[in-house]
Amino acid sequence: MMISIIGAGYVGLILSACFAKMGHFIRLIESDSNKVDMINSGRSPIYEPGLDGLLSDHIGKNLIATTCYNSIRESDFIFICVGTPSMPNGDTDLTMVASASRSIGEAINESKEFYAIILKSTVPPGTTENLVIRKVLKYSSTSNLGFAMNPEFLREGHAIEDFMHPDRTVIGCNDTHTGDLIESLYKSFNAPIIRTNIMEAEMIKYASNAMLATKISFSNEIGNICKRLGIDVYNVMKGVGMDHRINPHFLDAGAGFGGSCFPKDIASLIRVAEKLGYDPSLLRSVVRVNEKQPKIIIELLHNKLGDIHGKSIAVLGLAFKKDTDDIRESRAISVIRELERGGARVKAYDPLASNNACKEISGLKCYSNAKDALKDADACIIMTEWPEFSELDEEFNLMKSKVIIEGRRISSCSDVEGICW
Ligand code: UDX
Repeated sequence: MMISIIGAGYVGLILSACFAKMGHFIRLIESDSNKVDMINSGRSPIYEPGLDGLLSDHIGKNLIATTCYNSIRESDFIFICVGTPSMPNGDTDLTMVASASRSIGEAINESKEFYAIILKSTVPPGTTENLVIRKVLKYSSTSNLGFAMNPEFLREGHAIEDFMHPDRTVIGCNDTHTGDLIESLYKSFNAPIIRTNIMEAEMIKYASNAMLATKISFSNEIGNICKRLGIDVYNVMKGVGMDHRINPHFLDAGAGFGGSCFPKDIASLIRVAEKLGYDPSLLRSVVRVNEKQPKIIIELLHNKLGDIHGKSIAVLGLAFKKDTDDIRESRAISVIRELERGGARVKAYDPLASNNACKEISGLKCYSNAKDALKDADACIIMTEWPEFSELDEEFNLMKSKVIIEGRRISSCSDVEGICW
């Protein structure tokens, strides 16, 4: 099949590489010419295990990146994978979805071919119908079109595996013909395919992320109570997760959730509810617990050190989770901001995310290994579950005082105090 993919962000890149691996012919359309050049040289603009390899295998063969929309006229499927960032009030910025829809309409204008136009970006329910379909039809005279919403559930660090082995594929489509065509793209996956209408598919993505975030905040709340009782939340949640109605996944208590999806999507869902006149009190609480966790880390530090002003604090782990260089909404960044507000001197280390963290926090002092960051520190806070942190032991002896707090359950050192264990 000929597939055009609009947007070389996270989802667009994974989709392009994986569909190319499946033997389809891919045009990846991206407005940033630097990114296009990089992709065409077989390198990924983002860090994701396995992605460079897939790009270099397929680029120039059945995968080409371009800044030009004209080539989408030859496509059977057009996927919109542009970013939908959060605005300060939590609303979703749909500017890029609107402009991609307009460009698609202009590019296919007067074509006699049939196109299936599919939104992959995460959007508030109603966006595909009220924005994408309207815009495409406004700028194109062709009516031989099908529209769908096909959400993606990729986890950073596991995106290729998640794409190739999904739990389910959701196809939201209001006409059977287009839905059947899209289904044919995914039928080789050994996973159930759920057919819904467009708005239901949009909501499945929001509700899935909200459910996962709720599990995390729930575990964190239980963990905060367990700590006060002197019992281990990990033993408790192990017992809880063995109930098949609950399941053991996403019950790890700690510093809370970050990343490019959960915080943004929950904020957006809250705004959707508010605009409908409904007070989403559970979702607000999920966010409140998540915002509380970094503050608890600072409280623990105060309990051990007293005033942190002028103290030197090693922060190990900056990425929002292991196996990524992504620091978006990372709880480590929230902790560092609190430390800086209190006048502490931060010594940071992350195996992959230091560059991104330095761009976010100007003047942040990053070290090239954990040992150097720990040397002469008054305290250490472990914020990401990188496996190398589990092996640290003797290195803690380099600290001025052995105050170690972890926001993720990773260290085996006996001197460590956990955020909620
Ligand atoms: C998430 C969803 O999992 C994915 O389906 C969606 O498409 C995009 O958002 P991702 O952001 O890559 O993926 O990260 P994920 O692995 O889900 O973790 C999100 C955050 O939750 C991380 O900060 C992680 O540390 C935290 N987390 C996860 C916990 O605190 N406890 C857990 O038990 C699981």
